[in-house]
Amino acid sequence: MKHLLDINDLSKKEIEQIFKLTDKLRNKKTNLLKQKTIGLLFAKPSTRTRVSFEVGMVQLGGHALDLSGAKMQVFSGREAISDTSKTLSRYLNAVIARLYSHEDLLELAKHSSIPIINGLTDFNHPCQALTDLYTVKKEFGKLKGIHLVFVGDGSDNVCSSLIQACYKLGVKITVATPRYYPPDAEILKRTHHHATVTDNAKQAVKNADVIYTDTWISMGQEKQKVERKRRLVGYQVNAKLLSYAHPQVRIMHCLPAHRGEEITDSVLDGKHSIVFDQAENRLHVQKAILYLLLK
Ligand code: CP
Ligand code: NVA
Repeated sequence: MKHLLDINDLSKKEIEQIFKLTDKLRNKKTNLLKQKTIGLLFAKPSTRTRVSFEVGMVQLGGHALDLSGAKMQVFSGREAISDTSKTLSRYLNAVIARLYSHEDLLELAKHSSIPIINGLTDFNHPCQALTDLYTVKKEFGKLKGIHLVFVGDGSDNVCSSLIQACYKLGVKITVATPRYYPPDAEILKRTHHHATVTDNAKQAVKNADVIYTDTWISMGQEKQKVERKRRLVGYQVNAKLLSYAHPQVRIMHCLPAHRGEEITDSVLDGKHSIVFDQAENRLHVQKAILYLLLK
């Protein structure tokens, strides 16, 4: 039994196995996980993660239960995470958890006898980053030699997992971010400073194959909204920034996008954007993850 809490939980070989299996299971309806049930324990809103895991489970012949928000004792502070985890272990075959604090996710996993899959915390988003590199591989037919440039909030949870995934798979990554929001120091250390960090977005995108961005205000950071918008304003992915990049550059975003903030309509909806292929791939990649952890 194995959890997926962090990209570090997977070897390069296991990630390659996930990508191979993703291709195999793509658009296939099977009974591989017949009679298996997962719970979607979500403290924060979600469209892609929640729906793609549920649909993925159905396509594998199993079931998914929505255990979000007010439905659960744990989210109203009426039950400990440890007791919730031990109880869910008696009913389910796996839990997909989206929690505010990564510490809470570790606590959930510590007391669980079934696989826990991270559906995003304040620290990271491994299923997203795995999908993103799968998407890049599909788009370019390779990962070797690709340069991904993340523009925006360098301390972002998606960015953290991207740095780890790029390190593991040997993809060049640059993070263009204002000095207030450097990537997580622990992540940089763990990945032997594989990522280049700069505050010069214009320079960074010059050699980019992919420009990636995410919201400036992640869930739970709402109180910092005004300050974050002010500090990140020069890091918008817009037509001007795109004009410095290669004509074949692809635009990626984990979504939800905050149109007019980190990215403009013309770029998100433009010919370089592959954001909805990327969103679709969440379903395909997560089916492979579910199969490998639950089979
Ligand atoms: N990208 C992503 O995780 O989207 P949701 O918040 O809609 O799940
Ligand atoms: N960084 C964003 C990602 C949403 C999928 C957030 O945490 O809100």
